[in-house]
Amino acid sequence: MKALVLAGGAGTRLRPFSHSMPKQLVPIAGKPVLFHALDALRATGITEAGIIVSGTDAAIRASVGDGSRFDMTVTYLPQDRPRGLAHCVMIARDFLADDDFVMYLGDNIFAEGIAGPVGAFVRDRAAAQLVVTKVMDPSQYGVAELDATGRVTALEEKPAHPRTDLAVTGLYCFTPEIHEAVGRIEPSWRNEFEITDAVRWLVDQDRPVRAELLSGYWADTGTLADLLECNRVLLEGITGAVHGTVDSRSRISGPVVIEAGTTIEGSTITGPAIIGAGCAIVDSHVGPFTSLGTRCTLTAAGVEHSILMDDASVHGVRLQKGSIIGRAGKVSQGGSGAASHRLLIGDDSRVEVPA
Ligand code: TTP
Repeated sequence: MKALVLAGGAGTRLRPFSHSMPKQLVPIAGKPVLFHALDALRATGITEAGIIVSGTDAAIRASVGDGSRFDMTVTYLPQDRPRGLAHCVMIARDFLADDDFVMYLGDNIFAEGIAGPVGAFVRDRAAAQLVVTKVMDPSQYGVAELDATGRVTALEEKPAHPRTDLAVTGLYCFTPEIHEAVGRIEPSWRNEFEITDAVRWLVDQDRPVRAELLSGYWADTGTLADLLECNRVLLEGITGAVHGTVDSRSRISGPVVIEAGTTIEGSTITGPAIIGAGCAIVDSHVGPFTSLGTRCTLTAAGVEHSILMDDASVHGVRLQKGSIIGRAGKVSQGGSGAASHRLLIGDDSRVEVPA
């Protein structure tokens, strides 16, 4: 069985970060979303992955490389522009050959892995298997109707009046029958080839289409609020490990990962938290539910419920509400005499200050 990982797309909802990096490389709990996906796929035993990338993307190729760090072989499949999830299956036709495959949307997180649903597909080998989960607002999602045996009887994309609360998540398992289905559909009103239409074609042809009900946490990291929530949930599951240097004036409590080359001086770190390699944390407070990338610096600062990407720094400021600071972003107090905020904000950035 192979994996098809979708890491193209526009990522408009994750601006400003998606201006300068593919959204699948945004870090959550210490590593890019896409790495969580590849680790989850490898844990099911899959060793061959095709990754859909936007035609011009070099960052994903640079960070995933040939896949050997995941113990996988990776083939890149460029897509000229986002033309829909079923279009991804079309351009992966040669890579997939006549193998069964798992299609994984590269911005999705399944906190408890995907071994359960993939195992169910290997056992039942339906033509298509969806993974569904109960949600509060099904009208935002693809919505499935099932019979008592778990067979899908109907499928609707973002229905105004959902008939169930079962949302379709970003994990699909297919036999080669899906290739016939994607060849039978037309582009939708938004001019994309929709995977929902292809799966519905299989349902209409009376081919076996099943759905597995997911019980664990699932998120599509589409928005900035999703990123922080997902970071929180994944940090809840970490085990502490201190490889850096912590001085005698510092206090560490709860599960905390501190990577090598990081120094903690006169600071308190409250887990769960991850502090990447080469950071310097001085007279500051970090955590809970906070992850820092590599080479971040904090002095006389506080950071809680937040994500700091590589080379970010905070000096003399407390960020308590949940902040995301991009690569090499800097937050600091003004010099003496600074009477008001001074901001250098890139495109589509957002700042909230106390009223
Ligand atoms: P979406 O979140 O549906 O689309 P998007 O990335 O364009 O996001 P936004 O709405 O914020 O602009 O995509 C789900 C995943 O599939 C995501 O990892 C991107 C990927 N994808 C492709 O690789 N090719 C495509 O044609 C589409 C539509 C998505």
